[in-house]
Amino acid sequence: MIELPEQRSPNRWNRALITGASSGIGLAFAKLLAAESTSVVLVSRRESDLADLAAELSNAFDIEAEILVADLADGSQVKRVADRLTDNDRPIDLLVNNAGLGFSGDLVDLDPAGEQQVIQVNVVAMHHLAHAAGSAMADRGRGGILNVSSVAGFAASPQSATYAATKAFVTSFSEALHVELEPQGVVVSCLCPGLTRTDFHRRAGYSVGAIPNVMWQSSEEVAAIGLAGIAKGKAVVVPGAKNKLLANTMKATPAPVLRRVTSALARAGER
Ligand SMILES: NC(=O)c1ccc[n+]([C@@H]2O[C@H](COP(=O)([O-])OP(=O)(O)OC[C@H]3O[C@@H](n4cnc5c(N)ncnc54)[C@H](OP(=O)(O)O)[C@@H]3O)[C@@H](O)[C@H]2O)c1
Repeated sequence: MIELPEQRSPNRWNRALITGASSGIGLAFAKLLAAESTSVVLVSRRESDLADLAAELSNAFDIEAEILVADLADGSQVKRVADRLTDNDRPIDLLVNNAGLGFSGDLVDLDPAGEQQVIQVNVVAMHHLAHAAGSAMADRGRGGILNVSSVAGFAASPQSATYAATKAFVTSFSEALHVELEPQGVVVSCLCPGLTRTDFHRRAGYSVGAIPNVMWQSSEEVAAIGLAGIAKGKAVVVPGAKNKLLANTMKATPAPVLRRVTSALARAGER
């Protein structure tokens, strides 16, 4: 049963490719876009979840829903997704670069293979796909790329060093692309969510039980604000008043103070 959030995107894309569509914010993007009659290409590793979602969306909204099973930590599998983005037969006019992960802990205590996977998915794959989509869309003179970053990208974050650094890359890269591709008719926006209720924290090993409910947003709300942001041509979209305040405070705080605060908060979360 598909539940539609009240907040809907006013935009209309023909066909969107969404990475990380099997859960959380990516799943919400897929549902919202399908409800706006946008055909979807759903990308992640979990084939049966994608197949179930594709069937559900195509039946409910009379759209085309493809699945593309790919591990975005593997360069050859990312290339298959990039090839789909440059395919002119069924052109994709919106890329939602949403797949991402992170691990919590001091770098030296974390598995190096896991940390490299974070960089591969959050940075290398995101970059490869933005390049492929940006080139194809610029040739067609129209399109959109929505990169999902995080408020974590506004500060160096001890105990999330790799994750926060990858998101700083996503935000900086997206802002530059926003300017580069604007004259070619391609809108690039960066969505920087704060705490959003998904599987992310459980998978990452973050302990978030003590964080009050009021600090959280739903994945549907975040995705809807992201789609509304790119429809308005915004470069950076921070969803919700609390996250905006947080982001502005982070930007205004001197770096030595900020990294002490982020470290203290992370250590408090461990207790
Ligand atoms: N939740 C938050 O509080 C929060 C806050 C700020 C930013 N974000 C960002 O929001 C985005 C979505 O995260 P979420 O919160 O929705 O988490 P989630 O529920 O864990 O979803 C992550 C998605 O990424 C996909 N993914 C992970 N590794 C992958 C890989 N190697 N290859 C292909 N797909 C992969 C997963 O699919 P499979 O497992 O099926 O492959 C899943 O669909 C991420 O970029 C995250 O950094 C989240």
